[in-house]
Amino acid sequence: MARLLLESIQPVSIVRCGPENLGHDFHQIKLAGINSASIGIFSWSALEPEEGVFDFGFVDDIMARAKRAKMAIILATPSGAKPNWMAQKYPEIRRMHSPGRNVAPLREEQCGRHNHCPTSPVYREKCQIINAKLAERYGGHPALAMWHVSNEYGAGCECPLCQAAFRQWLEKKYGGLKALNEAWWTGFWAHRFTDWSQIGMTDGSLPAMVVDRRRFDSDQMLDFFRAESAPLRAITPDVPITVNMMGTYLPLDYWRWAKHVDVVSWDAYPAYHDRPETAVTTAGRFSFAHDLNRSLKGGKPFLLMESSPGPTNWMQINRLLRPGQHRMKSLQAVAHGSDGVCYFQLRKGRGGCEKFHGAVIDHVGSEDDRMFREVAALGRELKRLGPVLGARTPAKVAIVFDWESRWMLNAANGPSAFAKDTDAAALGHYRAYWKRGIPVDLLNGDAKLDGYDVVIAPQLYMLREGFAARVERFVEKGGTFVATYLTGIANETDLVFSGGLPGPLRNVLGIRSMETDYLYDDERNEVVMRPGAPMALAGVYPAAYVCDVVRAETAEVVATYGRDFYAGGPAITVNHFGKGEAWYVAAAGADDGLLDAFHGALARARKLKRALPDCDLPAGVTAQVRQTKTGRFIFVINFNNDPVVLAFKKTRRDLLTGRAVSGRKTLPAYGALVLED
Ligand code: GAL
Repeated sequence: MARLLLESIQPVSIVRCGPENLGHDFHQIKLAGINSASIGIFSWSALEPEEGVFDFGFVDDIMARAKRAKMAIILATPSGAKPNWMAQKYPEIRRMHSPGRNVAPLREEQCGRHNHCPTSPVYREKCQIINAKLAERYGGHPALAMWHVSNEYGAGCECPLCQAAFRQWLEKKYGGLKALNEAWWTGFWAHRFTDWSQIGMTDGSLPAMVVDRRRFDSDQMLDFFRAESAPLRAITPDVPITVNMMGTYLPLDYWRWAKHVDVVSWDAYPAYHDRPETAVTTAGRFSFAHDLNRSLKGGKPFLLMESSPGPTNWMQINRLLRPGQHRMKSLQAVAHGSDGVCYFQLRKGRGGCEKFHGAVIDHVGSEDDRMFREVAALGRELKRLGPVLGARTPAKVAIVFDWESRWMLNAANGPSAFAKDTDAAALGHYRAYWKRGIPVDLLNGDAKLDGYDVVIAPQLYMLREGFAARVERFVEKGGTFVATYLTGIANETDLVFSGGLPGPLRNVLGIRSMETDYLYDDERNEVVMRPGAPMALAGVYPAAYVCDVVRAETAEVVATYGRDFYAGGPAITVNHFGKGEAWYVAAAGADDGLLDAFHGALARARKLKRALPDCDLPAGVTAQVRQTKTGRFIFVINFNNDPVVLAFKKTRRDLLTGRAVSGRKTLPAYGALVLED
């Protein structure tokens, strides 16, 4: 399986091309150097125009053309949108939602997409029938490379079927109501349950229930995905399965999902518009999400399943990509572990709600359009990146990014909006390494920590059973662990640790968090490095938003607060534990300055290897590394709107041009190099 994907760099997503265009489209696909396509997404009303009446004509045609063109097809199942006849005949397949606080759920009209009930036995059966037919018909087809199951699954339905399933899920998890009542702390506000039928889905006043609801929603959709995949697994056991994910999308725990897919793929639509954030900030965010996708299956390459060669149609302002930005963002995905660049969409439809969305082929179908020319040019370049396929990223730094902990902190009443933004927190730490060209993996809270030099747990509110013990072993053996305010607050059912915070991490961190101060947005404190602080940390940094008031127990105080009644108290501490160190960063910086200084010092102290050690990276330029047994490849990308000058001490060959790169070299705005080390 891997083989096929590895050979098929630069696939493209075809949603569905009209038959009148097919011949021309395949001609252009060839010209653009495209070697794979995903087809059939949302095509149920064409595949089964009436209940039990099937028509596979257009798929047969595309598959036959793909075979002749030696293309690989990623064939979709159609469940992402249900046909009208089905929604009318079986209303239970339409989701129900509560329209507001404490209001009973209502059934949705048939409209849009991505809105089926995950529990409905009818919908599951209908999916299994059509998926079995697809698998039987195309399982042996030489063009079939992979299944693209459904599209961008999203969670959440509050119909009676889902309510019943939620209660069953809870019963399985807790065994009895006594355990559930204890775990959810239901005595508070008289919420004690005496019968399973009393448990609804929407009570926001029980945070532990909100988190279990999120777990259930994610699990239930995963269960639906597994049910609809069952015929594919049974009939075509050798054909890999992917689902197109959505980066850090909160409702689905992709760590759990990744175990059930063969290839991780995701849809990325960065807007390099400099608004509302700078293009460089956007670059950091999407690099993080690419790294997350690579990490979901322990470093295996992923696939950029959807991207747009031009503007989208759904942002507030859909600006054109500047010439070069399409290439830049495509190579960015490959730099972080994608073994292909796919597009939504091949050709702009003449009607419908995505007719103005960027596409490889415009309405006119001309080869002279900028988007087409840029895709074709990239296609030629990607062919030269064959040696990179399958390459891994040798990360020694890991950030713990745990969906369940995100859900739990999100559901907590008390912490400010800033403090609940786990994604921004993780990104703040990530950027310090990304800008230095130091590779980073993301980890779930249940992951092994061995093999890393530095493990960071930013705002890891929920600690899983055994996490602290793993951290202790990791640090004892010489690892560096970094925790922050709001790390180590509650157990897996959102009960706050009663032995002093940060709970079971108190021992390794050597501190006790006494109180947490949430600041108004315009308020500032200061983090003052102590004279002679370890790692040559020095200076004063503005602190903002969250200041944890800490007592050092066995830890050494590295920095103190400059203001307020806790001035002079610890703001950064380090605990020497076995052969390693455990750091606690108690305050949030007002900007990147604090974390940049801290992690910069850590990177030097731990001698973390940079992707491009012989060259200083100007702001907005990153270097990422991928390596195979035989090669090491450094992707250097300039995300700035202006050229930059780089000074290389070593000479290397740029795979994209075949030319040697050494000495002073100007990298144009959005320019990229892929250097063979
Ligand atoms: C994706 C979706 C595609 C298309 C695209 C537009 O989220 O999977 O079908 O709608 O967005 O950007």
